[in-house]
Amino acid sequence: MRKLCYIPVVAIWIAIFSVVGGVDRNNFKTCDQSSFCRRYRAMKKGESPYQLLLNTLKEGESDLQVSLINIKNVVHFNLKLTALENFDFRLEIDEAQPIKQRYRVDYALKGEPATRKLVVTERTSESITVTNGHNKAVLHASPFKIDLYNGKTLMMSLNAQGLLKFEHYRQKTEKPAVPEGEEAVEPPAPVDEAEADIGAWEENYKSHHDAKPHGPSAVGLDFSFPNADYAYGIPEHADSLALKATTATDPYRLYNLDVFEYELNNGMALYGSIPFLIAHGVEATAGVLWLNAAETWVDIEGGAHKGSNVVSSIVNFVSGSGTPPPPLEARFVSESGMIDAFLFLGPNPETVSKNYAEISGVTPLPPLFSLGYHQCRWNYNDEDDVKSVDAGFDQHDIPYDVIWLDIEYTEGKKYFTWDKIKFPHADDMMKNLSLKGHHMVVIIDPHIKREGGYYVHEDATSNGLYVKNKDGNDYEGWCWPGSSSYLDFFNPVVRDYYASKYSLDNFWGTTLDTHIWNDMNEPSVFNGPEVTMPKDCVHYGGWEHRDVHNLYGLTHIMSTFDGLLKRSQGKLRPFILTRSVFIGSQRYAAVWTGDNMAEWEHLQASIPMCLSISLAGMPFCGADIGGFFKNPDSELFYRWYQIGAFLPFMRAHSHIDTKRREPWAYDPETTSLVRSAVRRRYEYLPLWYTLFRHHEVDGLPIMRPIWYNYPKDKSAFTIEDEFMLGKELLVHPVTKSGLTEVSVYFPGEKDLWYDIDELELFSGHGTKTVQTPKEKIPVYQRGGTIIPKKMRIRRSSALAKDDPYTLQIALNADGLASGSLYLDDGETYEYQKGQYVSLVYHYDGTTMVSQLVDKEASFASKSWLERIIVMGVRKAPGRIVLKSQSVGEQEIEFAFNPNKHLLVIRKPAVPIAEEWKLFFH
Ligand code: GLC
Repeated sequence: MRKLCYIPVVAIWIAIFSVVGGVDRNNFKTCDQSSFCRRYRAMKKGESPYQLLLNTLKEGESDLQVSLINIKNVVHFNLKLTALENFDFRLEIDEAQPIKQRYRVDYALKGEPATRKLVVTERTSESITVTNGHNKAVLHASPFKIDLYNGKTLMMSLNAQGLLKFEHYRQKTEKPAVPEGEEAVEPPAPVDEAEADIGAWEENYKSHHDAKPHGPSAVGLDFSFPNADYAYGIPEHADSLALKATTATDPYRLYNLDVFEYELNNGMALYGSIPFLIAHGVEATAGVLWLNAAETWVDIEGGAHKGSNVVSSIVNFVSGSGTPPPPLEARFVSESGMIDAFLFLGPNPETVSKNYAEISGVTPLPPLFSLGYHQCRWNYNDEDDVKSVDAGFDQHDIPYDVIWLDIEYTEGKKYFTWDKIKFPHADDMMKNLSLKGHHMVVIIDPHIKREGGYYVHEDATSNGLYVKNKDGNDYEGWCWPGSSSYLDFFNPVVRDYYASKYSLDNFWGTTLDTHIWNDMNEPSVFNGPEVTMPKDCVHYGGWEHRDVHNLYGLTHIMSTFDGLLKRSQGKLRPFILTRSVFIGSQRYAAVWTGDNMAEWEHLQASIPMCLSISLAGMPFCGADIGGFFKNPDSELFYRWYQIGAFLPFMRAHSHIDTKRREPWAYDPETTSLVRSAVRRRYEYLPLWYTLFRHHEVDGLPIMRPIWYNYPKDKSAFTIEDEFMLGKELLVHPVTKSGLTEVSVYFPGEKDLWYDIDELELFSGHGTKTVQTPKEKIPVYQRGGTIIPKKMRIRRSSALAKDDPYTLQIALNADGLASGSLYLDDGETYEYQKGQYVSLVYHYDGTTMVSQLVDKEASFASKSWLERIIVMGVRKAPGRIVLKSQSVGEQEIEFAFNPNKHLLVIRKPAVPIAEEWKLFFH
């Protein structure tokens, strides 16, 4: 029986993934092969049949409701516009008299969004004007259009192109009814091109049939941004940071898919979908969250988009010789669900991110270990292998925090079990790792092996926990274990059941130091349409998979998070890595960019990919260091570690067929380069931790495009080979082979940039060439900042817990700097009860102070301040005196290097958690 299961899965695997050296595009639909995308793309601009019936207006406390009619087929809709707390708006459009409820996205938002009073300020026969604080919406009746303003600036218009379209549910022979109390609009006879489309009522793709029992049900709307040049976000795509115009290509696709050997530079769907877009220009930044979990396509046009033919018209316009470029437009089209859009009116990147984070949530402070270095491979084969990899790190003096086990550790790919031959003492193995402060992450995928006697399968079968096929039976597909079924995480009973599997009693071999990797959760189905679940499968509540597809992975990690939390009685912060993401996934997990390749282009792509994911609210992002497929040469290998050290999630990983590539697998020089990169990571761990804490508090991205911090700098809008971490560091890694120098753009008219290796000023504003010998990672600290570091080399972050800190100060042109440090126990939730220390530092040349941000909070840290490095000091001080409660008043030693303008203050030796003041005489 077991053997039989394997033959077909191998055959299918070969059949699907047989194209060597790149994605098999035939496995994935183009817009033209997707009936609703085809229908919507065929629409013409400027012919909107939708009108508002202004006399139906109903005013609520924080919203207005008004009828919207499609005058072509006389179908009525309810439009609701809500004033959100942060002065933004939410637009919802649903059918007035649906024959079937439409799916409203659950789970993605942090909670019910807070609202404010909506004030109707003007009503005419043509329009309604409402205000929400300083923001305003004008609803035009015919043709229907909404203009949204921040103050006097028009930030965004909806349906300005007339591409709104809402396919109501219908019987095949249905005649639309007119709601009671409303007059039928004469005369147009019901016309609906949706009916005419060949794929409207059933659709075939390759050998797959989609029954489509509910017929056409797509929704779409266009958004114009008159003040924006570029659109960003809507991950996940292996494409540029600034989205490209899609006039001559397919739209960007959002449909969570397991794409084998994905291709770069196109908008094909990948593992995750976050339908959040930021439109940015010199004058204004706005955002749209399209809250829909069905397959979605996004067209981009106008503005100054790369690949758009309007660039020359902008140049002409600026030089006074042409017409203004058409406004930036984004058009979202989804296969089902309703229109539910959050409209963020900025006016700058930070307000957009902050307000979006208010709605969708933030990444809670991760456990400190998870910000360290992770060593993964498909697979570490057995206990001896794990032991020798662990020993290799000691032997080569390279710190690491986590070692990972991929699918082969299980018994026959049955999750929550162990291969007892390879891992007979898994529990002891875990304990030994813990002794040196290490952690383990093991993989748990959502598909369940259909094997008699496997308790999860038996429980799921007898209790009805699986997703059903269209006929109401347990859906069966193929994945790693062979024949598999898929837990229906939309059912709260399933989430509870699955969560309970993570308890230490239920999951032998794991300890509180074992964390979880949730993979294949798009969900991946090797023999399904487009390698996923058929859309006519049915979930809990009767919803079709079509309605909820992009949410599946989120419900999976929600359950895992709950399980890990309960496992420690709510005490310890879970760490989860997920491949599939949606709006809100950031509240539960880190993400990586999936199965990349050991190629320089993939290394390059990791920057725009993680930047797009970060802009869409998920800060904890990384890419497989070294590349998953293929074997990197040593140069690619160490350069990948160098970039990995400065991406939020740092993990090396490789495919089962690749050569072994632990950090010491190459020559000694490569090992040494990798060692320095990993050590760099650990040196800056206090900064990473502080940045993650800031994110938790303010919702801003950690890894940022340059333009994000310099929103008015046009020349930064398309930069994607460098990025910033917070406002502190600028990183321009080497992402090409054989480069002996790179060109770094330093933003900020008045800003100064310091080289963190040389500890001296490197550049002011402008582009500079930087020499890049093998060991060089071009990273610069912005003048005006103070960064916390730890300089001692340990085996893991846990062992560095009590180590002293160094403060690295880079002065701005006025000789000033400030910064912060956050610390706590690094693993529990006690910080939420005030067990933490948050400090701000200010340096002004005559004094430097350390101040507690929250004096009520405290954390008993044994760490102390070992050193203060000040870069950019013009003149040596005569004396430096420290004053603090525990140390009293003391003169402090220092050294000054006049050539480098570097002041090093040695051993202030004050407890890190204390307030103190330095006086420079
Ligand atoms: C998927 C994952 C990859 C993992 C493999 C085996 O391809 O993306 O990281 O190693 O499955 O579990």
